[in-house]
Amino acid sequence: MSCTPAPIDATQTPEWAALATHQKEMADGFTLKEEFAKDAQRVEKFSFDMDDLHFDLSKNLIDQKTVDLLCGLARAVKLEERRDAMYAGEHINTTEDRAVLHTALRRPASDKGKFVVDGQDTVADVHEVLDRMYAFANKVRSGEWKGVSGKHIEHVVSIGIGGSDLGPVMVYEALRPLADAGIDCRYVSNIDPNDMAEKVKGLDPETTLCIIVSKTFTTLETLTNAREARTWMLQSLRAAGAIDGSAEQDADAIRKHFVAVSTALDLVADFGIDPENAFGFWNWVGGRYSVDSAVGLSLIIAFGPERFQEFLAGFHDMDHYFKNTPLEKNVVALMGLMNVWYVNFWGMGSHAVLPYNQYLHRFPAYLQQLTMESNGKSVRWDGTPVTSATGEVFWGEAGTNGQHAFYQLIHQGTRAIPADFIAFVNTPNPTKDDGQDVHELFLGNFLAQTKALAFGKTADEVRAEGTAEWMVPARVFDGNRPTTSIFGCELTPHALGELIALYEHITFVEGTVWGLDSYDQWGVELGKQLAKQITPAFHDDEALAQQDASTQALIAYYRAHR
Ligand code: F6P
Repeated sequence: MSCTPAPIDATQTPEWAALATHQKEMADGFTLKEEFAKDAQRVEKFSFDMDDLHFDLSKNLIDQKTVDLLCGLARAVKLEERRDAMYAGEHINTTEDRAVLHTALRRPASDKGKFVVDGQDTVADVHEVLDRMYAFANKVRSGEWKGVSGKHIEHVVSIGIGGSDLGPVMVYEALRPLADAGIDCRYVSNIDPNDMAEKVKGLDPETTLCIIVSKTFTTLETLTNAREARTWMLQSLRAAGAIDGSAEQDADAIRKHFVAVSTALDLVADFGIDPENAFGFWNWVGGRYSVDSAVGLSLIIAFGPERFQEFLAGFHDMDHYFKNTPLEKNVVALMGLMNVWYVNFWGMGSHAVLPYNQYLHRFPAYLQQLTMESNGKSVRWDGTPVTSATGEVFWGEAGTNGQHAFYQLIHQGTRAIPADFIAFVNTPNPTKDDGQDVHELFLGNFLAQTKALAFGKTADEVRAEGTAEWMVPARVFDGNRPTTSIFGCELTPHALGELIALYEHITFVEGTVWGLDSYDQWGVELGKQLAKQITPAFHDDEALAQQDASTQALIAYYRAHR
């Protein structure tokens, strides 16, 4: 049993009661338009610069009192103490009795010996694996690593799911312009055979390296896909005449075309992957917090060790900032606390993430696992029920695509949805259209959306455009819809590391106020168990008879149409 102190019930604190009263007062008349009009310093007050990133929180439903009360709430639930306990490696993941040490993954080598947790020199171990990965990636990138027929690697197929996929694929897409070794990466995650079929389509097996990524090395989807990839590889190498089908040549092909990333290195060996070609990590790294561990191997191959080091440095800088900045000035803590403000006091349970950067198009999907697998819970870290709403539904889409899809609801729907806009000043693809800088056209849209959401459009403004009276209400925008703008100079590996660490810590802040163990994920287990029980029922009548009526009817439909 972990010795983590019992969660403090935030709802029983005076700060919670004060926030509830404060919200009622604000709901009765607070408008962003007026706040901006009456306070020329508002933007300055609620803007923050953190290294590569600039944050504008001024278009949120907050004033100084909100910030003070939220920081008071954070202190009442001992947020800072829990943050320090996490960084120190205490077992704050109570249900699994584990440390939560993703911050150790990005500590510099100079910290070796300084973070010995449960008898393990975490930083020394991290750097030992990093050095092996860098050496391996350099061999692949330079062409020294060769496939079974002597050709160098041009394609990587990374097979994993959840945290073993969403991070790598998101970062690969985000940093694509920096892929300088002529190696293309593809990511297979779904157990739907269509995913694998499409990803290996057109690939030359002789120049393909498969990376099997699984923390546990037991995940059904990943192991099924890994076996499928092994069959594809051996069959296509045989068909190409690269191997003759003998057991030795098959083993040689697996050695040269398969590597693995896992915490279960014994299971990797059982799969037939040479332990020399396996890269480990540790149970104190949660799957959704693992992109900066060996799980990022495909990224080191695609972008090179130096870029990966810059990426890790971005995480580390954000970790340092979060740990060392007083709450009132700590934009990470404030963003997490604002989310609590919206969920628990304004009843806004949904949160949009809108990157105005096509390279970040997988960022919302990545955040869905990070935030919802972490904080979608009804029980606190000591096993008692939660005392308030928890979690937020995170979702989003790269701008401007979202503008032509769901922004209607954000602007004029009956529910307000806080939104984070993320944009960068510079683009790797500057383009002009008829003299117009297209990136500026794009950024103009980002600014226009946050302005429209905050300040809206009044009936008088609509009338002034000559709109028929009966149509005026349909064209009014109430405004007062909260947004946060995150503006960076350029989407570099460093800035991306900072951005990911930002949301990791936001998730931690929310989880702490709600009393959650944000690092377990028991909610995914029941479905896994039932899938094992149900799958035989497609063909086995006895298994079918044990199912509920709806499942039986669906399987009957399957049988009838197969
Ligand atoms: O979805 C449940 C989960 O356990 C995630 O937390 C994890 O990221 C994913 O499955 C994959 O697990 P593994 O890396 O062990 O294959």
